[in-house]
Amino acid sequence: MTAPDTERLHFMQDMQAALSHTPKSISPKYFYDQAGSALFDRICKLPEYYPTRTELSILQTHAADMARHMGEHADIIEFGAGSLQKIRLLLNAATQPARFVPMDISGPHLQTASALLKKEFPALHIQPLVADYTSDWQLPAPLPHAGKRVAFFPGSTIGNFSPQQAHTFFQNCAKHLAGGALLLGVDLIKSPDVLHAAYNDAQAVTAAFNLNLLTRANRELGCDFDLSQFAHSAFYNAPLQRIEMHLLSLKAQTVHLNGHAYAFHEGETLHTEYSHKFTITGVQQAAQSAGLQTTAVWTDPHQLFGLIWLDIPHTQETST
Ligand code: AVJ
Repeated sequence: MTAPDTERLHFMQDMQAALSHTPKSISPKYFYDQAGSALFDRICKLPEYYPTRTELSILQTHAADMARHMGEHADIIEFGAGSLQKIRLLLNAATQPARFVPMDISGPHLQTASALLKKEFPALHIQPLVADYTSDWQLPAPLPHAGKRVAFFPGSTIGNFSPQQAHTFFQNCAKHLAGGALLLGVDLIKSPDVLHAAYNDAQAVTAAFNLNLLTRANRELGCDFDLSQFAHSAFYNAPLQRIEMHLLSLKAQTVHLNGHAYAFHEGETLHTEYSHKFTITGVQQAAQSAGLQTTAVWTDPHQLFGLIWLDIPHTQETST
């Protein structure tokens, strides 16, 4: 099977599972087809969506300090072949990086991003890796003369994970990046009004981004979601410290997939995303429980967003 076929098959299986369960829920990774990625880029520029520009400003201000933590000849990994803007700031500040490994589930997206980056950094060794960092992943073998392995996970994408999934992610980092580090971007807890606005923008770009999941299912899986009968719903769940995004069924209706009918009652939702919000100490503790040690924290003057440097200890040799 070609990569797009496997991706489609996974989408099919996950959508079938989502529609069969109560409550209905699907992974936010399916937001990012071509249209979804373009909508996400628009979200990043919205006046209400502060995380992207705030993280960029922190990177801009502290890139040199971050580069000192990286050391010479760092072997840099990025989870998600996301905004080249962010990695560009780190690559420019780094001292002779040995390699850059962008990791993404979407092969085409990875190729485009890598080709663009290669033009800007012709001397850089770029080794794109098609892998799903939300499940099991492996890194390519370390380079013989490289420095530290440094993984960059920006955008507060870790907020998509449940606390249990975040713990598993930290454990995987401990396993695969031993002796290296993780530079993690996290969106910080703040006024619910500010959080609410960031996911309910006036231009309804976030609504279009959420609803695009149904358009994608109709196109790729042959579903028959009636786009006029589902609404974007996003709210801050304060006790659980997370934005929840759902697609809300506006009436009792039936949707088909592979010849099976799935019922939605009025007001039922298909949950599409968690976006957890954090405190610096909360992240430090969660990372610590997998053995990761905080050695630096950078934030903006309004404490909207944080970047945390987590050192990963060398593996303890155990005799078996
Ligand atoms: C890319 C997961 C960090 O949670 O804020 C933006 C995705 N969803 N608006 C986020 C998103 C709705 C974004 N992350």
